[in-house]
Amino acid sequence: MTIEQIQHTGLKPIPSVELVSQPLSSGDLNDLCDATEDAIKAGGGFGWIQLPNRNLLERFWQGVLAMPQRLLFVARLDNVICGTAQLILPARSNEAQSYHAQLSGLFIAPWARGQGLSRRLLDFVEKTAQHRGYAVINIDLRETQEAAIQLYESAGYNMIGKHPLYAVVNEKFVAGRSYYKLIQPLENIDPQTRGQSL
Ligand SMILES: CC(C)(COP(=O)(O)OP(=O)(O)OC[C@H]1O[C@@H](n2cnc3c(N)ncnc32)[C@H](O)[C@@H]1OP(=O)(O)O)[C@@H](O)C(=O)NCCC(=O)NCCS
Repeated sequence: MTIEQIQHTGLKPIPSVELVSQPLSSGDLNDLCDATEDAIKAGGGFGWIQLPNRNLLERFWQGVLAMPQRLLFVARLDNVICGTAQLILPARSNEAQSYHAQLSGLFIAPWARGQGLSRRLLDFVEKTAQHRGYAVINIDLRETQEAAIQLYESAGYNMIGKHPLYAVVNEKFVAGRSYYKLIQPLENIDPQTRGQSL
């Protein structure tokens, strides 16, 4: 049954979010690539501007999964991947920022928007980061990403500043914004246990 058919019958699709901890099945990889392509076609907003070819996209997602410093999260509707986010962990050499993680590449495919999935995904990313002993999440994004700005500000992210030359889209500079959120105070984090789980 398609999402349209489920909505037509009045049954609400079931949302879920998860941290990907196993290699993606070919079905999941396919759904993730479909969602990425749909979101890029709808204006992107998470890095890609031009639609890459499918092989490149598949290799990109497999590469993300292979990187120990990146955690890949997905959102599903009725088990179909429809969105994603990544948490980029600090390099081991970056001791001064070892309590900071960067949220990147959060998007929901256009067909699944407006159902609270990005808020659910963001909340789960934050809880996972807390559990792993991080204190601060940083985000930067283009100023044109208004829905995402609303999402982050309403979730308690504080704007640090604006970058007038943040990105280049269609050969023109686009301004950006940087945000941070304290997800837990340092006093709540036990350095001993934290060291074992990193
Ligand atoms: C931003 C985005 C992730 C929102 O996804 P979504 O699942 O539709 O969002 P939700 O339904 O969970 O809504 C959460 C909040 O986002 C904000 N929001 C979502 N859509 C919005 C819109 N069209 N206009 C303004 N704010 C919007 C609201 O604050 C909303 O909270 P509310 O429902 O209480 O008002 C989605 O529009 C998207 O993928 N955009 C393109 C990619 C992007 O900009 N990513 C950010 C890069 S870091």
